[in-house]
Amino acid sequence: MPQLLSQSLTLPCGAVLPNRIAKAAMTEGLADGMHRATDKHVRLYRQWSEGGAGLLITGNVQVDRSHLERPGNLVIDNNGGLEALRAYAKAGTVAGNHLWMQINHPGRQTLRDLHGAPLAPSAVPLKLVGDKFAPPRAMTEAQVLDVIRRFAHVAGVAREAGFTGVQVHAAHGYLLSQFLSPLSNLRTDAWGGSLENRARVLIEAVRATRKTVGADFPISVKLNSADFQKGGFDSEECLTVVRWLGDEGVDLLEISGGNYEQPQMLGHGEGEAADGQVVRESTLRREAYFLEFAQQIRPVSKMPLMITGGFRSRQVMEDALASGALDVVGIGRPMCLDPAVPRKLLEGSIEATSSHERQLKLDPKELGFDADQATMNLIEVFGDLGFYCMQIILLGHGQPVDTSMSCFQAFLRYQQNEAETLARLENWQPVAA
Ligand SMILES: Cc1cc2nc3c(=O)[nH]c(=O)nc-3n(C[C@H](O)[C@H](O)[C@H](O)COP(=O)(O)O)c2cc1C
Repeated sequence: MPQLLSQSLTLPCGAVLPNRIAKAAMTEGLADGMHRATDKHVRLYRQWSEGGAGLLITGNVQVDRSHLERPGNLVIDNNGGLEALRAYAKAGTVAGNHLWMQINHPGRQTLRDLHGAPLAPSAVPLKLVGDKFAPPRAMTEAQVLDVIRRFAHVAGVAREAGFTGVQVHAAHGYLLSQFLSPLSNLRTDAWGGSLENRARVLIEAVRATRKTVGADFPISVKLNSADFQKGGFDSEECLTVVRWLGDEGVDLLEISGGNYEQPQMLGHGEGEAADGQVVRESTLRREAYFLEFAQQIRPVSKMPLMITGGFRSRQVMEDALASGALDVVGIGRPMCLDPAVPRKLLEGSIEATSSHERQLKLDPKELGFDADQATMNLIEVFGDLGFYCMQIILLGHGQPVDTSMSCFQAFLRYQQNEAETLARLENWQPVAA
């Protein structure tokens, strides 16, 4: 029977997580045309709450309606919907677990269909095939300060609505992560240049959030161990930022890695570390690809630590906790196929999550057209992601999951869902370049 996974964890702010399994943040795409919560969030999060995880972290919630990671995102930007948010929070905590809202601004990773010139630290376009993302424009200082204020505002609304904590998203190449990277942040003012300057927006967002929510409310940060890009945010820099976040009284640090250009968070990506070294296969392929790095964090931080990415078997989770490298095990994709995975692991009725959670491979024969390698890689990443997004949508609609989709079918279904959701947005005007 699991020992360590079942133990509670008291956070620095005094809140207690009932066990060591967390559902990692996964974008839901279930908001209404005004970006507000719906009965689908309620249905989905009740299932996840009853599934037994000690902590549920929501999909990323945007701070600005003009910058969406995806058309069905929830946004808190004076768009109302507090009662719906309350119903969501109530359903998501029905089993006595924690429910934290992940707060985000996607910056240059905002789709072109939504914004023709999204805000970013600097005007550095994403290096991706196709034209899904428009070249961004550099933020003014007033816009930087506005974003910090918005993070704190959303956190305050989350608390008011009944969410029991928040997570500031500073990973995966979204705005705060763009500020951290010397590749996307070329600024020469107080928000760019030295690491201290590049990390300033994150530190200020955490400070403003703490001021709004008070000392007894959990604040987490999701941070990249590295961007896995030559010249990008690297593991040495990460360790320094971790030290600073510890000084800010962050309650739970979640470590992940990668961005849209290097999607390491889902086990894709080429494996080039920030220092130009090729990341060893073993690190990328083993069950928990960020576990190794956790061991380096321990000596520099007193903060409780959560690692997400690749955890599938109970024994690996137990061993990881026993090694002392981390305090909370994050699980993403398995939760899309069986919301009760945490309970089953805790009871010991399963040894591992099902085999479907392996990365979906694209069969080029299915494409029906000639595509170069870069295009196929892109379809594979978005097909893999789309597969899990579609399962979340099915769960939200109260329907059974559908694991029969191939990678390419999932890619197409997801694109169609995105187009339909975009068409449903009310008063929506794409922002011109
Ligand atoms: C469908 C889907 C949506 C995701 N959305 C988010 C998100 O909104 N915020 C975030 O920080 N990570 C997001 N992720 C990344 C997960 O939190 C997690 O880091 C990743 O899935 C690796 O964990 P796993 O191997 O257990 O799935 C998403 C992943 C998937 C599969």
